[in-house]
Amino acid sequence: MSGADSTVGTRRELHIERLVAGGDALARDEGRVVFVDKALPGETIEAELVEVKRDFARARMLRVTEASPDRVVPPCRHVAEGCGGCDWQHLAASMQHDAKVAVVREAFARTARMPEAPIVRGGAVGHEASRTTVRMAVTPNGRLGFRRAASHDTVDIERCLVMHPLLQELVSSVGVRGEGEVTLRCSAATGERAVWSHDKARVLGLPDDVAAGAAAVVHEDVAGARLRVSMSSFFQASLQAAELLVDAVARAAGDSLDGRDGIVVDGYGGVGLFAATVVPIGVQCVLVESSESACSDAYENLRGRSAKVMHTRFEHWRAQRAGLVIVDPARSGLGKPGVTTLLDTAAPTVVLVSCDAVAAARDARLLVDAGYDLVNAEVLDLFPHTHHVEVVSQFVMR
Ligand SMILES: C[S@@+](CC[C@H](N)C(=O)[O-])C[C@H]1O[C@@H](n2cnc3c(N)ncnc32)[C@H](O)[C@@H]1O
Repeated sequence: MSGADSTVGTRRELHIERLVAGGDALARDEGRVVFVDKALPGETIEAELVEVKRDFARARMLRVTEASPDRVVPPCRHVAEGCGGCDWQHLAASMQHDAKVAVVREAFARTARMPEAPIVRGGAVGHEASRTTVRMAVTPNGRLGFRRAASHDTVDIERCLVMHPLLQELVSSVGVRGEGEVTLRCSAATGERAVWSHDKARVLGLPDDVAAGAAAVVHEDVAGARLRVSMSSFFQASLQAAELLVDAVARAAGDSLDGRDGIVVDGYGGVGLFAATVVPIGVQCVLVESSESACSDAYENLRGRSAKVMHTRFEHWRAQRAGLVIVDPARSGLGKPGVTTLLDTAAPTVVLVSCDAVAAARDARLLVDAGYDLVNAEVLDLFPHTHHVEVVSQFVMR
């Protein structure tokens, strides 16, 4: 065992400096950075070291000795039972959005080396139960539940704070046989519901209205567009989240949406959320998406528009010149391959939607080094009670 490892299991008093991307809090112990869960900036806590590396350590919170004024008792009782679904319930709801803005500022300052980045607070979904897509796990009691924090174990869910009532009703009434994970989805507009078991689990006692399987669909209405969403396609976590994103992307895209500078590219376009709502009818658009299911939804959703759906990975797509590129990659971001394709479009305006603060900063640095200016980065809070953040950044070519 190395000298560093021998301190695992020992207790420490820690003073928390700040929250970091990923949701943990950061403290320093004899100069070494320590990440700890469930702590807040300004707090003094007692914690146990659970992992010690040369450059950093991880600690488990034991007790708070000096609490932040922003600390609250988690409003959902399942948090005390270990549910890992919402990791920021100990932070007052009114403070969560500002905390996310601070995390994004820090990521741009450190990762992008842009301490002066124009980062602003954008829209937030309300704290009422609005999530229309949830991925749950089968519990040993034959119910649907969520995973415990940092564990494969599960917690039965009686009443989830963030789940749409149409899904809550389903979770309360069905049983499940087997093992694995199940996605539940409903439409806030039509009331349609569907379930998709990813593994061998069988959901029992489904009400007659509930469709089942990877190919089952619901239809959601966003900003005037009706969108078909298959169970195996990605869709935003709630109708409010989709509407706020559409609004932020439309504002960031601005005049470049009129098609005068060239076509619009909706990269990582999913079922066509942006292509169907933000891009005016008549303006040529190319949607690039790697999932077959999302592409077939997009094909349906963009019928009657001047839109082409390209079923390929963005980084493999033979880029066309464009006036505007909207890109909404998965958590890892665009990275160099995605940015290389984007540069091949020579688009004067780029709107980057990021669901990870560090990936947003990394991609911003790549774009700035390649000749773009960051005009504005809006931080949206689409996942209340969690650390998850969405950043919509506007870039223009220098
Ligand atoms: C965060 S979602 C955004 C989808 C859409 N913009 C929306 O808001 O509903 C990312 C999408 O990118 C797709 N995707 C993941 N990796 C990809 C890649 N390398 N190239 C193209 N699409 C990809 C996923 O299937 C998913 O639909």
